[in-house]
Parts: sequence; structure tokens; C-alpha cells
Amino acid sequence: MTERKLGIGIIGAGGIANGAHLPNYARNPRARLVAVADINPEAARATAERWGIPNHYADYTELLANPEVEAVSVTTWAGAHADPVIAAAAAGKHIICEKPIATQLEDADAMVAAAARAGVKFTMGYQPRFSLLWNTVKRLLDEGAIGDVQALNISSTAPSAHRTPWFLRKAQAGGGVLMDWGIYTAFMINWFMGPVERVYGTYRRFRKDSYAGGELVPDADVEDTVAATLQFKSGAVGTWYSTWAATARHGYTSIDGSLGSIQMRGGASEGPSLFTTRFDEPEHLRGWRQLPLTELQNSEQHYRKLDHLIKAVLDDQPLVMTGADGRDALELVLSIYRSAETAQPVKLPMVRELAGVGR
Ligand SMILES: NC(=O)c1ccc[n+]([C@@H]2O[C@H](COP(=O)([O-])OP(=O)(O)OC[C@H]3O[C@@H](n4cnc5c(N)ncnc54)[C@H](O)[C@@H]3O)[C@@H](O)[C@H]2O)c1
Repeated sequence: MTERKLGIGIIGAGGIANGAHLPNYARNPRARLVAVADINPEAARATAERWGIPNHYADYTELLANPEVEAVSVTTWAGAHADPVIAAAAAGKHIICEKPIATQLEDADAMVAAAARAGVKFTMGYQPRFSLLWNTVKRLLDEGAIGDVQALNISSTAPSAHRTPWFLRKAQAGGGVLMDWGIYTAFMINWFMGPVERVYGTYRRFRKDSYAGGELVPDADVEDTVAATLQFKSGAVGTWYSTWAATARHGYTSIDGSLGSIQMRGGASEGPSLFTTRFDEPEHLRGWRQLPLTELQNSEQHYRKLDHLIKAVLDDQPLVMTGADGRDALELVLSIYRSAETAQPVKLPMVRELAGVGR
């Protein structure tokens, strides 16, 4: 018996489509690449040729009209996710949308509602959700390994490295370091800690000259540095500093509880590490120790995020990460922008008039 393959369409034939979605669909025995669409017809044609995809279009509505397309990857610019996701849901296609879900909260709400109305599966492109590091930390927290969680502190720095200029323009990207990189962290914060109740944030643009693909982007207008304090519904507190204006890459996430602490260290050269300590252990066993952890390759994390949708559809399994999670991560990011722009703390959930202030 031949295995059933899910018919896949790609909307947006750029870097992430060619670098992560297509190679990982191509090696998945339960995926069949059916069609690709891009407003740049040459990008659609070249991508179709490269991956042996039988159909290519300049208009994604033609891709959605193809009955062999059962699920889509939406890999357009960040500010161009909403229309194709809503149209895909209306056409009965299952969806994985790249991050961020959208740049405006109204769009994210409309996307989640459209998928729910159509009864299609809708997941997000946050590959670290499948990392062993995040899953290990989540398990430790759920098992109560550090007791009642009191605080989360995040520091995350790296030099900016973008290939294409749209990442640096508010109108297309919706924001800078917080929207592009911080959106993963926002998802992680919600997943580890539960809902945030109040934020106070500030942002800056330290680098006056921004580059993408080695070229100066004269109309770059997004923030490169953000600092925020967080108050969680659980009562825990948090701080979050993120920048792509640093010359060095360094960072950590620490979580402190009534019985111990967890620390994750990042950085390509050292690899992820995890330390725990418990105060309820015999004294001679107390202290930091590194848990054995061999992290998945980045490509394996991408494979799993795509396979997650395929399994959800073909095996009718529940999604572990949904469009609604993407929407909540966006709300956290937008609330920090809102706070920075008003110099006031912002409460979540954001009230309707404030939602979608975007940037
Ligand atoms: N998960 C990750 O690791 C990761 C990494 C990079 C980018 N991304 C996300 O993936 C998305 C795409 O980023 P990228 O680096 O591939 O950008 P890119 O500029 O390389 O590619 C985007 C493509 O979308 C096309 N496009 C734009 N609007 C369209 C529309 N309405 N219909 C059809 N095609 C359209 C563009 O012509 C372009 O070819 C963004 O949301 C980005 O944040 C995710």
C-alpha cells in the first residue's frame, strides 16, 4: 500500500521557503510538493524548477484554486501573511504560517477566526518549539523541578544579519528586533510562564546605518534594541532585553523558583546548556550542573515543525502549537511597543482600541 501524501503549496518563494520549507518537505515521505506562488513570477518559476514542483503562479489565489493543494506554507513577508492565510482557510486548506503571524492584532484575530470557521489546522513556524532545550525546560517546569516559579530573566544579543531589506522597514516587517527575533521568545515566555498581565517597555535605534545583504538600507526605520519588565498573571516577575545592535553574540534565559533555578545559555559556539540547582537536596548534591543534552540540528527543528502539520492532518492529531499561540505572542510584542510609545505600562489582554497599534 502506498503511503498517503499531503499535497503542499508554497506561498512566497523566498529565503525561508527555499532554505527550510522546501528541503524539508522534499525529504518528508508524506509530503508532495504541488504548487508554488510568488508575486515575483521569476522567483516562483525558479523555485518550481529547482524543486521539481509541477505548478507555479504569480497569484496565490490560483494556487488555492488547485484542488491538489491540501495544505500551504505561507512564507511571504511578515506584513503579508494575513490575506493568504485567510484566503487559504476559506479555500479549506490547512496552514503553516511563518513568524510573526501578522503585524497587526486585528489581522491575527481574523486569521485565527478564519481557520476556526473553516475547520482547518493552523500552525505557526516557530521551530524552537521542537528543540530539545525548550522541551526539557518545559518538562522541568511542569514537573515542579524548581518549585513555584518566581522570575524569568532574558538577555539576548547578537549583531544584526539580514539578507533582505524588508526586515528593516516597519511597513513590511511590523517592527525590528522584537518583532523578528523576539517573537520566538514571546512564544516561549507564554509557553513557559503562562499569560503576561502587564508590561513596561522601551526601545531604541542605536545603529543609524542598517545593512541587509551587505547593502545599506537608507529607509530602515525599525528598533534594534528593546528592554521590558513583565508582570505575569501567576504573580511571577520578569525582565527581557534584546538587541541586534551588539557586536557580540551572548545571552541567557534564567528562571528562578522556590526550590531552584534553571538557566539556558545560547550561542552557536558553546551550544545550548541547561543548569539546575535545588535547595531541597542534600547539601553535598547542591549546585549547578549541566544536564546532558544533544540539541537537534536547526534543519531537524524545521523538519519537525512541518511534519507536525502533516501528522496533524493525515493522522488527525491535535496541534501542539496553533495560530492562536502565534496571535498571543504577537500581542505580547505589540504591548511592549505600545508601552514604549506611550511611556506607560500596558495591561494584557490589550483593549480593542489599543490592539493592533502595530508600528
Ligand atoms: N522560522 C525561521 O527561522 C525564519 C527565518 C527567516 C524568515 N522567516 C519568516 O519567513 C517569512 C519570509 O521571510 P524570507 O526571509 O523568506 O523573506 P524573502 O524576502 O526572502 O521571501 C519572501 C517572498 O515572499 C514573496 N511575497 C511577498 N508578498 C507576497 C504575496 N502576497 N504573494 C506571494 N508572494 C509574496 C516575495 O516576493 C518574496 O519572494 C517572514 O515572515 C520571516 O519572518 C522565518
